[in-house]
Amino acid sequence: MTDGFQVVKSKRSRKVKTSYNTDALPDPGTQSNQEIDIANTLRKITESRYDLTSSDFYSSVQDLIGKVIHDEEGDKNTGGLLFQAICYGLGNFSECVIARYQLCLLMALREHLKINARECLLYDPKFRDEEKHILNNLGFHVIDKNEEGKRPCSLDTRTLFYMPHCGKSLCNNLLWANWSRQHLSNMVVIGNSFTSIIDNTPSRLLEKTGGYIQRLYPYCTEVPLPTTFKFTDIFNDTAIHSFPANKLRNAPEEFWDSPSEPRYEEEDVEFISNKQR
Ligand SMILES: C[S@@+](CC[C@H](N)C(=O)[O-])C[C@H]1O[C@@H](n2cnc3c(N)ncnc32)[C@H](O)[C@@H]1O
Repeated sequence: MTDGFQVVKSKRSRKVKTSYNTDALPDPGTQSNQEIDIANTLRKITESRYDLTSSDFYSSVQDLIGKVIHDEEGDKNTGGLLFQAICYGLGNFSECVIARYQLCLLMALREHLKINARECLLYDPKFRDEEKHILNNLGFHVIDKNEEGKRPCSLDTRTLFYMPHCGKSLCNNLLWANWSRQHLSNMVVIGNSFTSIIDNTPSRLLEKTGGYIQRLYPYCTEVPLPTTFKFTDIFNDTAIHSFPANKLRNAPEEFWDSPSEPRYEEEDVEFISNKQR
């Protein structure tokens, strides 16, 4: 077991507890002002990846993503499984256990979906230089500017956008940048459940910070990630979203007309604009 993790027995029930919050881990991490120990971080990534890929949770994720892609392929009849992956908002994986396991899922999916290493791109404004170095070392490409999530996907390749626990504004920007049937049907988004966002955001706020999520919701297919991973705060509230062409066809033509670029008046603590840094 990694990170000095211990199985805790509840005295009252005498049952072995099998799921935990990562707060239970005695992971001292790296203080933000300290130098990152690259070798140690790489060792922890290797351990966490083994831990993740040997779990039932990961087997289920493989099945689920396979089904989502297979359905979409059937619908679009593109036949190939060419993929690019863009990851936004991973966080500081050298010090945060949550971000580290999320990175490991990305690494595992990159292999499973046979995504060319250099077609796997990441950006987080909080990445430190050593983390960028580690990502390069692991064969990833680190994007060098804050796109605010406004990246149109390629129309030649399917794109997996991996945005674990990212704020609404980032996801909203992504949908705005891909506001057409051709783009949306070519992408898969793994991120905060749209259903939860819609259910848990007051409607006035939702229109301002997640208007495109709200509009697209009726044409989206959402498959929640299983809640079986032993740490309950890493992949919680996360789903695989796709926008099948046969659903998008039901949207009226005017639905796609000149979408206005999102502007956020109220501060979103989870979103960093390219003017802030
Ligand atoms: C709520 S945290 C999630 C971190 C981690 N994935 C987790 O689950 O703990 C949101 C992350 O989004 C990142 N972020 C904010 N603005 C961003 C932007 N414009 N592009 C990419 N990532 C961004 C933040 O730096 C932060 O790491």
